[in-house]
Formats: sequence, C-alpha cells, structure tokens
Amino acid sequence: MAPLAFLLLLLGQTLLCIAVDTISSTTPLSRNQRIVSKGKKFTLGFYSLQSNTTSSSSSSYYIAIWYTNILPVTTVWTAATDVPVSDPTTTVLVIGSDGNLVLLDQSRNRSLWSTNVSVPASNSTVAIIRDSGSLDLASASNSSVTYWQSIEHPTNTWLPGGKLTLDKTTGVSQRLVSWRNNANPSPGLFSLELDPSGTQQFFIQLNDSISYWTSGRWNGNGFRFPLAPEMSNLQFVDNDDESYFHYSMKDDSIISRFIIDVSGQIKQLTWMEISKEWVLFWSQPQAQCEVYALCGAYGSCNSNGTPYCNCVKGFSQKIQNNWDLQDYSGGCKRNTPLQCQTNPRSAHTQSDMFFAMEDVRLPDNSRGAVATSYQECQTVCLKNCSCNGYTYNSTGCFVWHGDLVNLQEQYSGNGGGTLLLRLAASELSDPEKSKTAIIGSVVGGVAAVLVILAIVSLFVFRKCRQNKTLQISGGALTNLRYNDLLDDIQSIDSLLLDLSTLRVATNDFGEANILGKGGFGMVYKVQINHAICIIVNFIYLQMNMYLVSHRESYLTGNK
Ligand SMILES: *[C@@H]1O[C@H](CO)[C@@H](O)[C@H](O)[C@H]1NC(C)=O
Ligand SMILES: *[C@@H]1O[C@H](CO)[C@@H](O)[C@H](O)[C@H]1NC(C)=O
Ligand SMILES: *[C@@H]1O[C@H](CO)[C@@H](O)[C@H](O)[C@H]1NC(C)=O
Ligand SMILES: *[C@@H]1O[C@H](CO)[C@@H](O)[C@H](O)[C@H]1NC(C)=O
Ligand SMILES: *[C@@H]1O[C@H](CO)[C@@H](O)[C@H](O)[C@H]1NC(C)=O
Ligand SMILES: *[C@@H]1O[C@H](CO)[C@@H](O)[C@H](O)[C@H]1NC(C)=O
Ligand SMILES: *[C@@H]1O[C@H](CO)[C@@H](O)[C@H](O)[C@H]1NC(C)=O
Ligand SMILES: *[C@@H]1O[C@H](CO)[C@@H](O)[C@H](O)[C@H]1NC(C)=O
Repeated sequence: MAPLAFLLLLLGQTLLCIAVDTISSTTPLSRNQRIVSKGKKFTLGFYSLQSNTTSSSSSSYYIAIWYTNILPVTTVWTAATDVPVSDPTTTVLVIGSDGNLVLLDQSRNRSLWSTNVSVPASNSTVAIIRDSGSLDLASASNSSVTYWQSIEHPTNTWLPGGKLTLDKTTGVSQRLVSWRNNANPSPGLFSLELDPSGTQQFFIQLNDSISYWTSGRWNGNGFRFPLAPEMSNLQFVDNDDESYFHYSMKDDSIISRFIIDVSGQIKQLTWMEISKEWVLFWSQPQAQCEVYALCGAYGSCNSNGTPYCNCVKGFSQKIQNNWDLQDYSGGCKRNTPLQCQTNPRSAHTQSDMFFAMEDVRLPDNSRGAVATSYQECQTVCLKNCSCNGYTYNSTGCFVWHGDLVNLQEQYSGNGGGTLLLRLAASELSDPEKSKTAIIGSVVGGVAAVLVILAIVSLFVFRKCRQNKTLQISGGALTNLRYNDLLDDIQSIDSLLLDLSTLRVATNDFGEANILGKGGFGMVYKVQINHAICIIVNFIYLQMNMYLVSHRESYLTGNK
C-alpha cells in the first residue's frame, strides 16, 4: 500500500513538473502551480512579495509573469494590481463561463480580476503564456487568434514587442504605471503615456496631472532622448483608429526591458548573463531630483544624498514605512505647530520665525506680493497663517501658501534662491537648543554609567562563569540566555576598550583569593562568591539586555 502511495505521489510530482503553457476551462491555475512558455523564457504564477517592514509582514499574492531563469525574480507584468490575493488557497486563475480569463476567489465566488473582453463563444478560449512574455487569451481551436494580450496591457514594464497605444476613438492612452513602492505593485503615482491630444510625444506624469518630462516630438527617426543601440527598432504607427509605439530587439537573445520605476524615472535595463545583473543603459529624466515632487510635501531632494529625499528642518516623515520602500510621496509633517495654528493663541508663545534655506530650488506655485524689503516680505508672510515661506530676490517678494513641494538642496540652476521657511519659534530659538543639549548630556551620562557598570559586571560574571557557580543561580535556562548574551556583548566590549589588560588583572585577583586558600576560609569565600555572583549575574543580565537592545544607537552614536 505504502509503495503504491509513494508511486502515486511521485507520479503527481512528475506531472506537476511537466511544463504546461496553457490554462483552459478544465485546467485552472491554483497556488503553487505555474505555466511556463514553450521556450521556457517566461513563467506565470502566483507571486508573493515579501515586505521587510514589520507592519506589512503578511505577504500578499499577485498573479505575475516573470523571467524563468533570472534571479532575483524579476516580474514583467502583474494582474489585478489593485487587489492582492488575500487567500491564495481558494483563489484560482481560470477561464470563466463567459470565456474570459478570470481570477476567481472561490470561497466568495467573487471575480478579483478579468480580461473583460467579448469572446465569440464561451468554452472556446484558452490562456497561453508566450516566449514574448505575453499572456494571451486565444482561441482554443487556433492559438494564433487572440482576443486579449497582456503585453498590450502593460503595468510597469514595456517589453520588446509590446505597444504603447493611443486609442483615437476613445482618446484613452495605454499607460505604463510605476509600482506604489518596492513591495507593492498596485498603481503608483508616476506614469508614462503618449500625449492623448495626439502630439506624438511621451509624457511622464505625477498623479495623472503634472507632466515633468517629455520626450519631445517624434521626428521620424527618434526622440531627443538617446535610445540605447539595442533598442533602435523603435517604430511609430499612426492610423485612423490608433497610434502607437512599439520596439523590438535587434538580437532576440538580448534580454532587455523598459520600466517606469517607483522613483519616477523611465529606465532601460539589460540582463548581463556573465555578471548576473541588470545593467542600466539609460534613464530619463537623467537626474533623480528632476522627478517632480519626488520627496512629497516638505521633503527636499538632494542628488548627492542617500536616500535622495529628506525632510526640511522642523519636519519629519509622515509614513516611515513607505520611505523605507522608496515611496517618498507621503512627504513630511510639521513637528511643532505654528503659533498662528495653536488655539487659543497664547500670549506667552513667541511669534513664528523663519529658517533660511540657501541655494535651493524654490517650490512651485509662488505668489508675488508687494514688499520693498526682506523685512516687509516677512511681515506679509507672517500676517497669513497659510503662508509657509517666502523669498525676496531681485524680482521682488514671493510667498508660498499651502504645502511646499519640489524643493531641491544644493541647487544652482534656474528657479533657485533662498527660501525662508516658516517654523514655530521653539524650533529655532536658543533655549530649546540648550534644553535638548542638557537632555542629551544627561542621557549620555546615564548611558556612560550603564556601560561602565556593565563592563565591571562582565569581569565578575566571567569569573563566576569560570568557577561554574552559575548553575546554582537559575539552572539551564539562565545559562542558555547568558551564553546568547555573551556573544552579543562581545561585539560591544571589543568596540569599547581593549579588555585584555583588565582580564589579566581580574585573573590575578581570582587566583590569589579563591584558589590559593583552603579549609574554612575557602568555603566562606566560595559562599560569599556565590552570593556576589548571584547579585552580579542579575545586574549583568539587566545591563546586557539594555545594551543589546540599544546597541544600534550606541554604534551609530560612536561613529
Ligand atoms: C529585505 O531584507 C534583505 C536582507 O535583510 C535585504 O537584502 C533586502 O534588500 C530587503 N528588501 C527590501 C524590499 O527592503
Ligand atoms: C457565482 O457567480 C456567478 C455570477 O457572478 C453565478 O452565475 C454563479 O452561479 C455563482 N456560482 C455559485 C456556485 O454560486
Ligand atoms: C468591463 O468592460 C466594460 C466595458 O468594456 C466596463 O463597463 C466594465 O466596467 C468592465 N469591467 C471590469 C470588471 O473591468
Ligand atoms: C464547457 O466545457 C465543459 C467541460 O468540457 C462542459 O462541462 C460544459 O458543459 C461546457 N459548457 C458549454 C456552455 O459548452
Ligand atoms: C489560424 O488563424 C490564423 C490567423 O487568423 C490563420 O492565418 C491560420 O490559417 C489559422 N490556422 C488554422 C489551422 O485554422
Ligand atoms: C493625487 O490626486 C488625487 C486626486 O486628484 C488627490 O486626491 C491626491 O491627494 C493626489 N496625491 C498626491 C500624492 O498628490
Ligand atoms: C491667506 O491667504 C489665502 C490664500 O491666498 C487667502 O485665501 C486667505 O483669505 C488669506 N487669509 C487672510 C487672513 O488674509
Ligand atoms: C525670484 O523668485 C521667484 C519665485 O520663485 C522666481 O519666480 C523668480 O524667477 C526669482 N527671480 C530671480 C531673479 O531669481
């Protein structure tokens, strides 16, 4: 019986391993199953994006297409990007009753995504993954008849052979849309599309509204951006129904893709088999800080910074998690409300002050104001609570109402100058500074005492450990924890000072006082030692726990 079951299992495994490239009405695709294109170039299946951030540690599944032989997994298309698959055990990708390919949540009989096209007859279609990287809804009797192709509905990747189309009858332009962040493929803020008004040029837009980059008009040979030589087969097709761009590779063996990434740049990347990495051929806009409002409200971009984005003085990140995943669009929030925002206005609080940010790219949407000096310009700004900053240059006085966006530091180009940023007085005044300095030194002092105590107890602890007196103080569990902690503490103590000289000193102390004597005196000493060890162990454990949990800040603090 058992061998038979084993054989069946083996057979099942083998069947699973046979590469199939088709989903039909009778063979849906469920989790752990994949279909692979005939030439094995692309794979379609459920793909899980593991996010490192603690708040979103639960993994979401997406239907995705990726390169079969490239690691780390590089996706080229994802379905249902608005809705991750919450329960992959009950969700299948299947040819639905109307002939469309449907991502079906069976537990709720709910469609999460569908190809949503009209098909001549139900039961007559199959879905096929092709070596081009496209998932096609095709006729079951003739697979070269297709009703829908994923390559013509790209997400963030434009593959060779794919089209970016402007449908002239509907005026809808097929857009390439960035991921929300590096762990979330749902539609983000940046998109590339053909100008819907038919000017034959590409735009990159923020949030579907602000264009911050344009390719320039197609002139029959190319755009003003330099195309990588491998991609030179870019073609423009214009007919009554539609106009579109498509490209192909000169050499099919070159693996190349074109993406719009989470930081708002379009990029062409080519896979280098020798070094096993994606190599960037070009990107537009060339400078990261040219991406409009990349750092969100009150964020400022620094092209030499890592990361590129930082909050301006007096502000901090709104959503730290998203910043970690390179989505800065959430921007920054004020740490201390302005005086004019606090209610009721207290006579004791100082009026708001201004912090000078020199050599910045000034925010957009300035308003001219009437003033003949810095002082007057400042007064104009102070009078209105929605004014967050001003500048006074040779053209005159300009103020900003509402959020400040598109700031860049260390900037010397057009539209640069000195921004006077409005902040609560406490963010700038001296008493506050000295207060933080005092707090800082108190914290520092306490920490130093703790470190010294921990080091002293470390020596006594090691002595105790050598004499195996530990066993009486808490059994195996305690020992285990001590050993774990010891590894941690060693990396800290090696950093703090050279222990070897001190270690020698304590050994000398130990030999002379414990091992050298006998009889009543020794028992007495051992008992005293036990008592001391128990107390010291306790202190030591507390110190270690504190140090280990604060190790990160010590290391960075010491830098
Ligand atoms: C997740 O963590 C690993 C190792 O800790 C790191 O290599 C990887 O880049 C991280 N991924 C993200 C999306 O932060
Ligand atoms: C599932 O929903 C479809 C329409 O949305 C309906 O035709 C079908 O009968 C439902 N199936 C079950 C088992 O409820
Ligand atoms: C399917 O397409 C029709 C029109 O073509 C549209 O009205 C409908 O909202 C679409 N449904 C989905 C689920 O996208
Ligand atoms: C479609 O095919 C399935 C399986 O062959 C069959 O059970 C079903 O009746 C067919 N439906 C139609 C509308 O032909
Ligand atoms: C399949 O469809 C294509 C395109 O319509 C056609 O050229 C071809 O002859 C068809 N093949 C068969 C076997 O019907
Ligand atoms: C994007 O636009 C929508 C509506 O136009 C708006 O509600 C949203 O706040 C905008 N998001 C950003 C980050 O600008
Ligand atoms: C402040 O400025 C805003 C925007 O210009 C304006 O709508 C508002 O009326 C002003 N408030 C005052 C008190 O002047
Ligand atoms: C002064 O600043 C305003 C606001 O940013 C800007 O529009 C103007 O060009 C600047 N003038 C000069 C001479 O830099």
